[in-house]
Amino acid sequence: MTLWEALTSFKGRINRRDYWLKGVLPLGCVVLAPVVVLMALGRDDAALVVFGVLALATLWASLAVTVKRLHDRDHPGWHLALQLIPVFGQIFAIWVIVDVGFLKGTFGRNRFGEDPSGTFADVALEVSPDALITVGGLTKYFAMTHGVLLNRDLGQVHAVDDVSLEVKRGETLGLVGETGCGKSTLARVVTRLIEPTSGRIVFDGKDITTWSRRQLRPLRRDMQIILQDPYSALNPRRPVGAIIGEPLRIHKLGSRAERKAHVREVMELVGLNPEHFNRYPYEFSGGQRQRIGVARAIVTKPKLILADEPVSALDVSIQAQVLNLLEDLRDEMGMTLLFIAHDLSVVRHVSDRIAVMYLGKIVELAPPETLCSHPKHPYSGALLSAVPVASADAEEARSRRIILHGDPPSPVDPPSGCRFHTRCPKAQEICSEVEPPLEPKGLPEQLAACHFPLTEEEIERAILRPREK
Ligand SMILES: Nc1ncnc2c1ncn2[C@@H]1O[C@H](COP(=O)(O)OP(=O)(O)OP(=O)(O)O)[C@@H](O)[C@H]1O
Ligand code: SF4
Ligand SMILES: [Mg+2]
Repeated sequence: MTLWEALTSFKGRINRRDYWLKGVLPLGCVVLAPVVVLMALGRDDAALVVFGVLALATLWASLAVTVKRLHDRDHPGWHLALQLIPVFGQIFAIWVIVDVGFLKGTFGRNRFGEDPSGTFADVALEVSPDALITVGGLTKYFAMTHGVLLNRDLGQVHAVDDVSLEVKRGETLGLVGETGCGKSTLARVVTRLIEPTSGRIVFDGKDITTWSRRQLRPLRRDMQIILQDPYSALNPRRPVGAIIGEPLRIHKLGSRAERKAHVREVMELVGLNPEHFNRYPYEFSGGQRQRIGVARAIVTKPKLILADEPVSALDVSIQAQVLNLLEDLRDEMGMTLLFIAHDLSVVRHVSDRIAVMYLGKIVELAPPETLCSHPKHPYSGALLSAVPVASADAEEARSRRIILHGDPPSPVDPPSGCRFHTRCPKAQEICSEVEPPLEPKGLPEQLAACHFPLTEEEIERAILRPREK
């Protein structure tokens, strides 16, 4: 007798022994096999979902049997049970969708520790009284997975790696680096919009590294964000007055009338007509929309504004207007600004200090004049020599440009030692072995992470300084 024949050889009424030996046991083995295989492959999260689906499917079958029995006995409960079936069906469908969705999102990762968590308390941090933000050893790794049920682990994106930094009160810190180097991630981790993997964050004298969402809520009014794309950042279905006033409503600041009056004041402050309070975002130009974004960010008078590439989607002429507006507001309201851009020519005009980022690390930190005339890190030199020169010197500048060869390495498997060594024209053997620390190099207030910083002759060759008048 084949296995199939054995399994299907029920005749008439099933006795208890057949029920267990030929029914439940083999079926259980077949059904649980994928769960066991997934667990053996280390895919606990996928195994949990499969197990959940099977468990519910089993309950579903039991429910159907119960309903059939109630029906056969003409029990009054069977009508109720019949009505409950679609309800259970919907709950089951929602559960599967949510669980599988979560698996691709945060549930699977957090629960099973795929976004790794490291140490928070052990990082020693010196906090100076004039610092609004101090971070030490800040790291953010994203888990990379593939697929839905089989959700294979593909490693971790080292988006931000061991960054220590301080932003002083009232200062504008520019953060510059090529796309994907971790600028937005650093800004989001610093403000706890996303969870750090390890490190410590002190905001306004408070160590907020492990604060809960509830604890952070009142602090949110002191940290506001301006997003890159003014077209997608605003809810098209809400009038601008409501969009700008939203943070006031969320933080329950003032009465309805007070909020409205304050929003009108802020609209005027950023150069928008308060009469346009009830207009919708589509009725505004790109520059005006970014002003709406700025107005929304400043409406709660935050201590910190995080401007994530606020002008990169705008025309050059409008860029200048928005940059001037941000500078004026910062001076007027005494705010601290973390200004992110991939274009050094934008950052240098608004920043008090500039941090250059490469593949998750800060590689140079200096005041703009120092960085632009005496860069020490070869990557900063390359960024500077790429800034377009619109003058009679343009031809000469082009001939001196440092061209970086090769693509940026993958943040999933960053190069050993100095992360820039695969593209650095000055790289030597030690560069791939020993990671250079970010330490004072060159002029006062200048830090660079490089074993062989640029010399004056190299800087002269790479960068076209303004001609002596
Ligand atoms: N939620 C996420 N899950 C997985 N990887 C992410 C996530 N967010 C960012 N990353 C990865 O982290 C790295 C840094 O991304 P980030 O957005 O911080 O770069 P960026 O410097 O702001 O780039 P851009 O200039 O294009 O805005 C990138 O490799 C990106 O793919
Ligand atoms: S440490 Fe070496 S590879 Fe890295 S930037 Fe300096 S010279 Fe280049
Ligand atoms: Mg970004």
